[in-house]
Amino acid sequence: MTTTVRTQPAAADGGAERLGIGQVGLGGITVHHRAGYALYDQPVVAGYDPDPAARARLLQDAPTATAHGSLDELLADPAVGVVDLATPHHRPTRLPVVEQVVAAGKPFLVQKPLAMSYAEALELVELAEAGGVVGMVNQNMCFTPSAIALGRALVDDRVVGEPSYAQLVAQYQFDTDFHPWFGRDERWWTAGLSVHHLGLLQMLFGPPETVYAMTGHDVSQPGVTVDGWGHLALRYPSGLQLVVVSTGTYYGTEPVRHGDEAVWVQGPAGLVDWRPEGDVVVSRRVDGGSEVQRRSLAPHTRGTWFPHAFGLTMAHLRQALAASRTPLCSLQDNLHVMAVLEATYLSGAQRRVVELAEVLGDRYDPAYGTGWSHGYSTWEPPLPASAGAPA
Ligand SMILES: NC(=O)c1ccc[n+]([C@@H]2O[C@H](COP(=O)([O-])OP(=O)(O)OC[C@H]3O[C@@H](n4cnc5c(N)ncnc54)[C@H](O)[C@@H]3O)[C@@H](O)[C@H]2O)c1
Repeated sequence: MTTTVRTQPAAADGGAERLGIGQVGLGGITVHHRAGYALYDQPVVAGYDPDPAARARLLQDAPTATAHGSLDELLADPAVGVVDLATPHHRPTRLPVVEQVVAAGKPFLVQKPLAMSYAEALELVELAEAGGVVGMVNQNMCFTPSAIALGRALVDDRVVGEPSYAQLVAQYQFDTDFHPWFGRDERWWTAGLSVHHLGLLQMLFGPPETVYAMTGHDVSQPGVTVDGWGHLALRYPSGLQLVVVSTGTYYGTEPVRHGDEAVWVQGPAGLVDWRPEGDVVVSRRVDGGSEVQRRSLAPHTRGTWFPHAFGLTMAHLRQALAASRTPLCSLQDNLHVMAVLEATYLSGAQRRVVELAEVLGDRYDPAYGTGWSHGYSTWEPPLPASAGAPA
């Protein structure tokens, strides 16, 4: 289990400047990583990908970085203090890379989903634990500037009191005929997409007690051969009930796109509306009556998901490492996300409620609390370089 010691945040970069970033896997998403890192002064010093075109793209974006010809070379590079792992999450690709990174003793950030299944995720976490290496999962939805404000509002300031009901909706068209492997894995929608939602919910509410899921796909959707939706009903030890409506099959007139998910959380003291790139808006009944007062806690001028959240995720990990603090979205914390993912597929296939303890075994702790309380949540996010401030 992760232990968290609450102390004051480290001043400035607090030694993080020594932790040069070595990118492993230089595919499509890492272009956004680098754009975010440039905004928040996160230094990319090296990269490795077997594909020469991907290495050339790294050098275009980061001309002072070294493009290594092998993973061994990158891991031996003394400038590399933290590995940014963005190889595909299929076990045959990811496991050998994580084994090498752990053997080299380098802390790492690993792209979501950590793995395709809970068992495969546990294998990676136990590997890192045996090597004494710190890892964080790149659940970047949690690091939009607005999500950090939401965490503070709900968990630290308890603006709605104890949450009783919450809802997240994403419904839009995400065909995958353009992509070599998206949509064709044995698990697609919840593992590839809704895992962002599961990461956010873990940060805000911790692990649910039970999961009930409906999974399926639209046979007419181009490119998606497996699950194209995953709708969830989650019940928490606190009594919180939560509904996730998440589908990439929707081509109707009322899309709610990924990146603009509609989230609301209700408790006895109020209701919070939130979108990843929107404000944190609290509504409260006046004197218990029908009149409602609203105020915005965090105006949405601080940054977008792409690429701001990517820069902030890496900044968070590097500053947590420098301050010897457990990062948010640590490997261990992410096992809860992976357990909900596993429970979703189990529930969908078997049409039954799945208790999270069934998946987590002796790692299940009904008193675990929020992911927020198991990581460096007192961290002060840096401001972006002036040119990067969003409109
Ligand atoms: N919002 C997000 O955070 C987000 C978005 C898209 C993808 N992702 C995740 O990022 C990961 C990569 O996705 P992508 O879209 O960049 O895929 P991609 O197919 O575009 O790129 C993968 C890259 O990994 C390289 N690679 C394969 N094996 C390697 C190895 N052993 N060592 C080093 N490099 C290796 C490939 O050559 C390729 O360049 C996936 O796990 C995916 O789920 C996250």
